[in-house]
Amino acid sequence: MKISFIPIKKFEKEPYSKILGYPKASKRQLKSRILELEKLKVKSIALVGHTTIGKVAILGKGYVGVVVLGKKGGKDIAIKIRRTDSQRKEMKSEANLLKIVNSVNVGPKLIDVSKNFVLMEFLEGEKIGDWINNLSGKGSVRRLKDTIKSILEDCYKLDQIGFDHGELSSISKHVIVGKIKPTLIDFESSSTNRRVSNVTSITQAIFIGSGMAKKIQRMYKVPPKEKLVMTLRSYKTEQSREHFDQLLSILKL
Ligand SMILES: Nc1ncnc2c1ncn2[C@@H]1O[C@H](COP(=O)(O)OP(=O)(O)OP(=O)(O)O)[C@@H](O)[C@H]1O
Ligand SMILES: [Mg+2]
Repeated sequence: MKISFIPIKKFEKEPYSKILGYPKASKRQLKSRILELEKLKVKSIALVGHTTIGKVAILGKGYVGVVVLGKKGGKDIAIKIRRTDSQRKEMKSEANLLKIVNSVNVGPKLIDVSKNFVLMEFLEGEKIGDWINNLSGKGSVRRLKDTIKSILEDCYKLDQIGFDHGELSSISKHVIVGKIKPTLIDFESSSTNRRVSNVTSITQAIFIGSGMAKKIQRMYKVPPKEKLVMTLRSYKTEQSREHFDQLLSILKL
């Protein structure tokens, strides 16, 4: 499919203005946001993706932002646009958190930031929930295990630097699985000053009680819940590589 990019100038008018200033924005706000994008050297935006606003396709939408595919310096990037009704007053704090996780090679790479926009690496792929549901055929157990292991390793890295993602219990929204590897996303609710529980939260979300857990159980034999809970408990008391390896081992990863 050929993707058509639309020059950002056009985002002052309907239907595109709905994307730039969602759910609603004044003419002045829109003009100022276009200026902001020009300063960031974003030339154009493509309306593609599995989510829609009105009839316009976008990459995704949450309570903080609307995410679209953009072009900067000839490269595809993802742009998180601050919603005008968001609780967050600016995007710099989110970008700072992203910078921290990038330092251990986690998350989409931060490219630039301004008050209303975060520019980051575009992740081509599917949300993990959809990815698992579409997983079938030869080699799918291997692919499943590799993907989960890679996610757990990222969570372990975050535990090691004392960084808590905060929303990994709803994993289906926070991991995008690409061709090469899965990537954790959305660090705006993260914290560097609370107890970290990335590995524990995500393991529970993947293996205990969720729809995802049921699908995984049909694909390979996972340990009984009690054993998993016990292993997580030792990891919680001491977040060492040894305890983490124990976890990988009982999960047959
Ligand atoms: N770098 C990216 N590349 C591709 N798609 C992305 C990227 N970042 C986010 N998305 C898509 O946009 C959606 C919304 O992004 P994100 O979760 O960061 O927004 P949010 O407003 O903080 O959401 P929430 O209200 O759930 O906290 C994601 O679920 C994902 O589908
Ligand atoms: Mg969020």
